[in-house]
Amino acid sequence: MIKKGIILAGGKGTRMSPLTKAVNKQLLPIYDKPLIFYPLSILMLANIRDILIVVNKGQLDQYKKILPDGKRLGIKISYIEQDKPRGLPDAFILGEKFIGKNNVSLILGDNFFYGQYLSERLKDSVKLSKGAKVFLHRVSHPERYGVAKVKNNKITIIKEKPKKYISDLAITGLYFFDNRVVKLAKKLKPSKRGELEIVDLLNKYKRVNKLSADYIGRGGSWLDTGSISDFYKTSDFVSVIENRQGFKIACIEEIALNNKWIKRKDIIKSIKFYGKCEYSNYLKKLIKHR
Ligand code: G1P
Repeated sequence: MIKKGIILAGGKGTRMSPLTKAVNKQLLPIYDKPLIFYPLSILMLANIRDILIVVNKGQLDQYKKILPDGKRLGIKISYIEQDKPRGLPDAFILGEKFIGKNNVSLILGDNFFYGQYLSERLKDSVKLSKGAKVFLHRVSHPERYGVAKVKNNKITIIKEKPKKYISDLAITGLYFFDNRVVKLAKKLKPSKRGELEIVDLLNKYKRVNKLSADYIGRGGSWLDTGSISDFYKTSDFVSVIENRQGFKIACIEEIALNNKWIKRKDIIKSIKFYGKCEYSNYLKKLIKHR
């Protein structure tokens, strides 16, 4: 059972400058909450309560203002600073002590997931005891992502941003690994772009037949927040759904309450913490009938 999760929220966010000059990208708003709430909610939906957030050096204080330690949510949040981005697998090297002898999940701080049955799939994925697991999603621009070719339910090729078409199945930024990941990450060599590559790590598992895949099907969404335009499109998506249906996506207090990790009194603490705002009104509604 995977009980530990890492959110990689480093990176300089240069593609979104000047927005990201003073504020970390993961703290910018996707509609009514900071981007980091969305990947955090995914780990919480997977029943992961022990979470390490990797942040840029010098930005820890910004994060601690909004997510100090997780107590309010019945979870444990710890932080580690990264002096410069060295690629996704660096999360496992930096997080070695945090991971200990456990298996671990990694989610990229700027990835947005939404969809029916997603919670069930996540809860299933944390059952992983050996190997690695990825989530794939069909996209119209596979050349922008890590891509997997699948044959007879088996991943046959994985490649980072392939210039030549091999498949339209993108490897999303949500990964589940057994404990060997720490050792394997340490063995990786930087790629041409000077970073450790997640696909190189996944290939190590594939070679020994230990890489499996699940899908975020047509009913689900995996949205990009890479460029400014995609960032706002994701924000619009959240706004449309929330305003139409009256519930919130990635309300971390609601997930904690539903998981029975916190009680009514903790929600009241959160309402005080956020102050008078629309988000607090939503929290008030949650506990009205409890
Ligand atoms: C990274 C990974 C890529 C993955 C993508 C998901 O890309 O290298 O395999 O598909 O995240 O967001 P990057 O954001 O570093 O370009």
